[in-house]
Amino acid sequence: MKENFIQDLFSLEGKVALVTGGGRGIGQVIARDLARAGADIAIFSRSGAAESVKLIEGEGGKAMDIIADCTKEDQVRAGIQKILAEYGHLDVVVNNAGVCYHKDIFEATVEEFRECLDINLTGEYIVAREAARVMIEKNIAGSIINIASMSAYIANVPQRQVAYNASKAGVIHMTKSLAVELVEHHIRVNSISPGYVATPMSIDPNFVEPELLAAWEPLFPMHRMAKPEELVGAIIWLASDASHYANGTDILIDGLYTAV
Ligand SMILES: NC(=O)c1ccc[n+]([C@@H]2O[C@H](COP(=O)([O-])OP(=O)(O)OC[C@H]3O[C@@H](n4cnc5c(N)ncnc54)[C@H](O)[C@@H]3O)[C@@H](O)[C@H]2O)c1
Repeated sequence: MKENFIQDLFSLEGKVALVTGGGRGIGQVIARDLARAGADIAIFSRSGAAESVKLIEGEGGKAMDIIADCTKEDQVRAGIQKILAEYGHLDVVVNNAGVCYHKDIFEATVEEFRECLDINLTGEYIVAREAARVMIEKNIAGSIINIASMSAYIANVPQRQVAYNASKAGVIHMTKSLAVELVEHHIRVNSISPGYVATPMSIDPNFVEPELLAAWEPLFPMHRMAKPEELVGAIIWLASDASHYANGTDILIDGLYTAV
């Protein structure tokens, strides 16, 4: 066995990674594990990500806590400038911030529909665009990873969530389109599409009623939701040089949900 082969292939040593919505849930675990793989981390959140930073620094990593709403161009720009001032470059972006409303066509207001698209789709677009600008300026062959969802492929049951599903389908095609537009700059853009993952979004009783959780239970072919940790291998692969030829692709990690 070649010494350090795996380590060298997947290492993020020397890279700087931005994770949006990294104050909790999937984003927190991704931020922690990108740091474990060697990256210096910056987190965008609307209300602070002190717990995530403490977690990373407690393991000897580096992390910045930046208040930035991903839907606000000025805040995103300012946040990226803070990253450059502290670390000098930006190599990896994980566009993770997102929201979900369990409302059908008649329950959701147009404002709620727009808000869901604004955060899940336009927010990812703004962060990708502003990150790509600095990657191009600094001649960095960056990797942008958008979090989509299996809801891009299916309409979940029994809850209705047209805005969320539409926003995530948009993320997948936006990913392909951005990959095409940025390929000449050596910036890769890919997405991952998780099935249900046990995070506040999917198990917090303030958001998901116990009856809905009970209705989901028999629908999991692997008899459980994913843990956020189970997405990390794909994220590290996409962030690292190991995935050089992966571009404009979506990786579905749904524990067979959409296959049955
Ligand atoms: N949990 C699941 O079952 C599941 C499944 C598929 C995809 N996803 C996607 O994974 C991502 C993370 O979800 P999660 O389950 O960890 O949810 P979560 O609600 O636990 O975390 C989402 C984070 O994004 C932040 N956020 C929301 N809007 C923001 C904005 N405008 N600017 C900055 N931060 C913002 C929230 O404050 C929160 O900290 C989302 O894009 C979600 O759609 C989740």
